[in-house]
Amino acid sequence: MNQRPVWIKHAAQLATIAGGPAPRIREGMSDLGIIEDGSVWIEEGEIRAAGTTAELEKRYGSRAAEAEIIDASGRLVTPGLVDPHTHIVYGGSREKEFEMRLEGATYMEIMEAGGGIHATARMTREATEEELFEQSFRRLDSFLSHGVTTVEGKSGYGMDLETELKQLRVMKQLNERHPADLVPTFMGAHAVPLEWKGREDEFVDLIIRDMLPKVAEEGLAAFNDVFCEVGVYTPGQSRRILEAGKEHGLLPKIHADEIEPYGGAELAAEVGAISAEHLLKASDVGIRKMAEAGTIACLLPATALYLREEAARGRDMIDAGVPVAVSTDCNPGSSPTTSMPLVMNLACISMRMTPAEALVAATLNAACAINMQDKVGSIEPGKQADLVMWDIQNYQELQYLFGVNHVMNVWKKGKLVIS
Ligand code: NIG
Ligand code: FE
Repeated sequence: MNQRPVWIKHAAQLATIAGGPAPRIREGMSDLGIIEDGSVWIEEGEIRAAGTTAELEKRYGSRAAEAEIIDASGRLVTPGLVDPHTHIVYGGSREKEFEMRLEGATYMEIMEAGGGIHATARMTREATEEELFEQSFRRLDSFLSHGVTTVEGKSGYGMDLETELKQLRVMKQLNERHPADLVPTFMGAHAVPLEWKGREDEFVDLIIRDMLPKVAEEGLAAFNDVFCEVGVYTPGQSRRILEAGKEHGLLPKIHADEIEPYGGAELAAEVGAISAEHLLKASDVGIRKMAEAGTIACLLPATALYLREEAARGRDMIDAGVPVAVSTDCNPGSSPTTSMPLVMNLACISMRMTPAEALVAATLNAACAINMQDKVGSIEPGKQADLVMWDIQNYQELQYLFGVNHVMNVWKKGKLVIS
């Protein structure tokens, strides 16, 4: 890479979130490592130094002529946001279901009648790899324009081997061809496919026997996720799938206690899941077990809003010592959004998180939830130069001035990708 160094200077606030790659808990979630009149030196796509402008003048002043200088006066600069839970690759769309839900149908009723995830599975099975790539590329662009530079993506709209592999291959292509990083998760157990209804255990066997080995052999996923929910997969079935994934080197994740309390948080702690997702109905025992095990709670307040449900107990989880991350859950049914800034606002408004906690949850803790903490999630020497300059002065404004996109510039691996 023969890029000119980039020198960002005079940021009103530089929120570094520096302090090591472990997920933050309790008071650690409030520590943004703020530097006023902040400055970052970027070279070869990497952060080389972050400090006050005066400090960096001393170190790099003699090389100023080499660098592209960015004047960040009056602006907030943060790490690129990380979205640790999306279903970004899918065919078609489901706006009619949105209307049906407004008229009174529930999310689970629509799914049980063959809509919901099943409808998207039909459209995803029909779509070509190129079509899926095009649609998803545009979605990744939208993430980037909202300051999101790293995105996790799940399969699970195939639920047959061929379509699951198709989705995962599209993600591999996207990761190679789009500036954003895309981290893939296998989620063959996203619903019980209609053709397997009543034969759930046999479908679980198929996932374990045929799908997981193939996905692992092709190196197409880092994580293995299941929808553990009343009427979908039981905790026992979920445990089998997650344990089998571990044998293939796939780390467990779990959609847990979303619609009804079902012991999902407890299961996440027991199987050593890297994260548990949703958790709207997580029990006190489950929350305690997650804190003890260090399981990251990946909370999705936009989904709760969209389903008109009470959001997860983010405040209680942080107070109990659970590391909390937040995410869009971007998907065509329960959360068709790519806006992590909206999710941070909602984390404050509907989960009583502070503005600082919401930012840590959308950067460092989110990076930890997808095992990317060595590369992204904070502004520290040696990390990828993934940064956002916002058209506001401080981190409180980021959460306070809501429903508006404040992104001015985004750098990915030191390259200006939004200007
Ligand atoms: O995380 N809960 C299950 N899966 C997704 C929704 C997928 C869909 O409706 O298409 C979720 O909310
Ligand atoms: Fe999800």
